[in-house]
Amino acid sequence: MKKVSESVFVCTNCGNEFSKWSGQCSACKEWNCIKEVKSLGKSIKGRRSRKSLGESKEIKKLSGMAIESKDSTSVFTTNIGEFDRVLGKGIVRGQVVLFGGEPGIGKSTLLTQLLGKIGGLYVAGEETAEQIGLRVQRLGLDKEKFDILETNSVDDVEEILERTNNVFKIAVVDSIQMMISDMEGSGAPGSISQIKQSTFRLVEIAKKTGMAIFIVGHVTKEGDIAGPKMLEHMVDTVLYFEGERSGELRILRVDKNRFGPTDEVGVFRMEEKGLREISSEEVSLIDSKVPQIGSTISMVMEGTRPLLVEIQALVTESFSQMPKRIFSGIDFNRGQLLVAVAQKILGIPLYKEDVFVSVSGGIKISDPGCDLAVVGAIYSSYKNKVIKSAKGNSSPVLIGEVSLLGQVRRVKMAEKRAKEIKSLGKEMLTIDSIKGLKELI
Ligand code: TYD
Ligand code: MG
Repeated sequence: MKKVSESVFVCTNCGNEFSKWSGQCSACKEWNCIKEVKSLGKSIKGRRSRKSLGESKEIKKLSGMAIESKDSTSVFTTNIGEFDRVLGKGIVRGQVVLFGGEPGIGKSTLLTQLLGKIGGLYVAGEETAEQIGLRVQRLGLDKEKFDILETNSVDDVEEILERTNNVFKIAVVDSIQMMISDMEGSGAPGSISQIKQSTFRLVEIAKKTGMAIFIVGHVTKEGDIAGPKMLEHMVDTVLYFEGERSGELRILRVDKNRFGPTDEVGVFRMEEKGLREISSEEVSLIDSKVPQIGSTISMVMEGTRPLLVEIQALVTESFSQMPKRIFSGIDFNRGQLLVAVAQKILGIPLYKEDVFVSVSGGIKISDPGCDLAVVGAIYSSYKNKVIKSAKGNSSPVLIGEVSLLGQVRRVKMAEKRAKEIKSLGKEMLTIDSIKGLKELI
C-alpha cells in the first residue's frame, strides 16, 4: 500500500496518474497539465477494505435477480421537455449526472428549475440557503419543493440521507469544486484529490440509495481546474451547458450517456425569469436580416434537431509571414482544410490573406453540413460581394459537406433539413461543386 506522504502526479485534463512529473501527459498528449498532489489512495482504499471486511462478496446469478425494466418504474420525467430529450427519456433511478459548464452560464439556474419541477435536495456548497431562496423566488418556483443543505462535506450529505431515510428522488450538488470528502484527507476543496474522492463517494451514495444525483462542475476555458474530463468514467452521464455568456442562447449537450443517446441537444434561452425552452422555429442564430458581405446561412443538425446558423467570415490582406487562421465554433483542422479547398478550386490566393471565421450564437458545430456555408462566407468576404438567392433579396441556406476536390456532398437527414427550411420560408441552395458559388456573386 502507498505511504500517506507519497505524492502522485495527476493530469488535470484526463485524470491519469503518474509516479513522476513530465511536461506532456503521455495518455492524452496535452502539455503542461500535470500537477503534483498528495496521494489519494489512502482514504478510498481504506473505505474499500473496510467494506470488504464487513460483508463478504458473493457472485450474483442474473437468472435469480429481479431486474427493473428501464422504462417502467425506474425512469421519471424532468417535466422539462428539452432536458428529457437530452437525457434520453428522463432520469433513471440512481443515475449520476455530471453537469459541466463555464461559471455564470446558468447551471445553478437550470438545476434550480429542475428541482422546482420535481422537488429534491439542494446541496449548496457555494451559496447560502437565502441566496437559493432568492433565486427560487425570482424564478417563480414553488418553495415547498426545495430542501436545502448548506454544506461542502460529503459526510454531511451521507448523514442527512440516513437521518431522513432518504426521501429524495434527486439531489443537486452545487458544485463539486466546493466539496470535500475527508477532513483529514489530502487537499482543499477544488483540489484534484478532493474532487475525485467526493465524486467517488457521491456515486456510491447514488447507487446505494437509488437517488439520482446531479453534480455541478465548473469548466474554465483554459481547462486548468480538475476538469469534468477526469470524472467522466465515474459517472453515468456527462452534460455540458454551453453558450456565450453575453448572449441569451444556451445549449445543453450530452457527452456521455449510459442510458440514452449522446447526440441530442436541448436549446434554452436565458431570460429575466430563468431558462426557457425554445423550439427550432424560435432559434434565431442569425444576426443579419439581409444578405451581407462575408455572411452565409446554414442549417446544421444537432442530434435530431435542426438549427439555422449564420457563418461569418472576414478575409483581409495579411501583413505577416504566417497569415492568421482563426476559427470559432468550427474545428480548426476542418477550417484549414476548407480554406485550402477554396484557394485551389475557386482560384483565390488565400495564402496572402488572414482568414477569420465564426459561428453566430457562440455554438460549436460538429456537423460537416455547414462546410459549404463556410466556404461561401470566405468567398463572399474575399470578393467583397454578397451571396444572394437567385430570386429575391434574401440569403439562401447553404448546406453540404465539401470534399477535397470541391464537390458538395449530400448530408445526413437532408429531407428533414429541406422541410424545415421550407417551413421557415427560406430557400435552399443546391450546387454540386463549390465552383457554383461563382455564379451567385
Ligand atoms: P447561474 O445559474 O448562477 O450560473 P452558474 O451556476 O453556471 O455559475 O447563472 C448566472 C447568470 O444567469 C447571471 O449572470 C444572471 C443570469 N440569470 C438570468 O438572466 N435570469 C435568471 O432568472 C437567473 C436566475 C439568472
Ligand atoms: Mg452556480
